[in-house]
Formats: sequence, C-alpha cells, structure tokens
Amino acid sequence: MDGNGRWARRRHLPRATGHRAGVSTIRPVMEACHAAGVHILTLYAFSTENWSRPRHEVAALMQLFGDTIDSEVGEMNAEGIQIRAIGDRSKLSPRLQKKVRAAEEVTSANTRAILNVAINYGGRHEIVAAVRDLAVRGADLSQLDTETLSGALYTAGLPDPDLIIRTAGEMRISNFMLWQAAYAEIYVTETLWPDFGAADIDRALAAYARRDRRFGAVPDAAALVEEAVVAPASL
Ligand code: FPP
Repeated sequence: MDGNGRWARRRHLPRATGHRAGVSTIRPVMEACHAAGVHILTLYAFSTENWSRPRHEVAALMQLFGDTIDSEVGEMNAEGIQIRAIGDRSKLSPRLQKKVRAAEEVTSANTRAILNVAINYGGRHEIVAAVRDLAVRGADLSQLDTETLSGALYTAGLPDPDLIIRTAGEMRISNFMLWQAAYAEIYVTETLWPDFGAADIDRALAAYARRDRRFGAVPDAAALVEEAVVAPASL
C-alpha cells in the first residue's frame, strides 16, 4: 500500500493523514476483488523494516492499525470476511496483539473471502522463523523440502499469490512474500495507494489476464513446434 506519504505531501498534510486516507481505500479494493472473483487479498501494512521510520510515524501507524480493527472488523465479519494477520506479532504492543487475535477469532469461521494483513512482516524473517520453528519442533532439517517449509510459513494453507500489485510506481519487491512470490505476476502502477480503487483493480486484473504464465515451462506453441521438429515422422 505504497504512496501514502507522497499523497499527503502533495496536499501539504502530515504523513499520518496519508496513512489514514489509505485506510479508506481498503474497502472498495476488497469489494472490487470480490466482484472479480478474487477471494484472497493480502495487504502489506507494515514491514519489519518500517520500525526505522520516525518514532511518531510508527506510533501513528500502530494507533491506526488498532483504530482500523475497531472500526472495520464488525462490518467485515458481517460480510463473511475472515481476517488473518501474517508477520511477527510478538513485537506489537500487547494491546494491539489482543485486538489482532480478537479479530482473527471472531472471523475465523467466515468463508466468503480472506483478508490477510501483513503487519511487522518481512519475507526473510518469515523464512528464518519457519526454519527455526521446524528445528524447535524436532524436524529433520537435512530432509527439509519445499512443501514442509511452505507449511511452516505464516501463509500455511493458503495458495501462493497469483498477482502482486505495487502502487506508487516502485519497481521492487521490498521483502514481500519472497518465498510465495516465486511465480507471482507483478503489476506496478503509478497510482498512489490512497487514490487506488476499483478501476485500478480492474486494470490490474485485465493486465494479469494478458500474461502468459509458464511457471518455467516453454510456451505451448513453442513446445508444439519443437515436437514437430524433433519427431517429424509422427506428423
Ligand atoms: C507505505 O506508504 C504505507 C505504509 C507503511 C502503511 C500502510 C498502512 C495503512 C494504509 C493502514 C492499513 C491498516 C490496516 C489495519 C490494514 P509510504 O509511507 O511509504 O508512502 P511514500 O512512499 O509515498 O512515503
């Protein structure tokens, strides 16, 4: 959800106001995703690196997370949305941890859509935490395979993301789902997160629909040509 700071700066407003404006984007984006048949959405709200921002900005963000849970969870629950948090929540204040846990618990049986909120999340940290967790549970790490590691990540049980949308024009992954993003399609838009909306989701999904996802294989047409060249007698 990048670009909140720039959105605020352009209006001569404090950065925290940009983050608050960013919260208003969440609901229309979720609705647009749902209308398009996308039922799992992850929002990158706070990275493990975001602690290095000025103290007052971090405090404003933490306050905003709590306020957003208070103001949104009731309605999301009524709409059948399951809320999950991914990331190292042990560094959040006990009060915020409690709110996050309560939001997860109250929505845990919902099946209409899943909203994953990445908070104090970092892809590198996630992988290290998963391996440590396996070691602590006595797993034989010399036999570690991709399925076992996937099952120890915060996203265990969820499919890998098909599409990652980055707002505000940055061309980098910023420690987001490093493992799970192996074959994700990436869509970058100049639109700042507070200005992002249903039309942008539609544009991103239209671009996604034009992608040729090969997961490392050759395109279908190339495979057919190769087959014809290698085995002409069979034609
Ligand atoms: C990045 O923009 C945005 C963030 C670090 C925070 C995003 C968080 C929210 C919108 C609140 C969401 C709340 C919940 C509970 C999901 P930036 O500050 O890096 O923008 P800039 O690059 O333009 O400065």
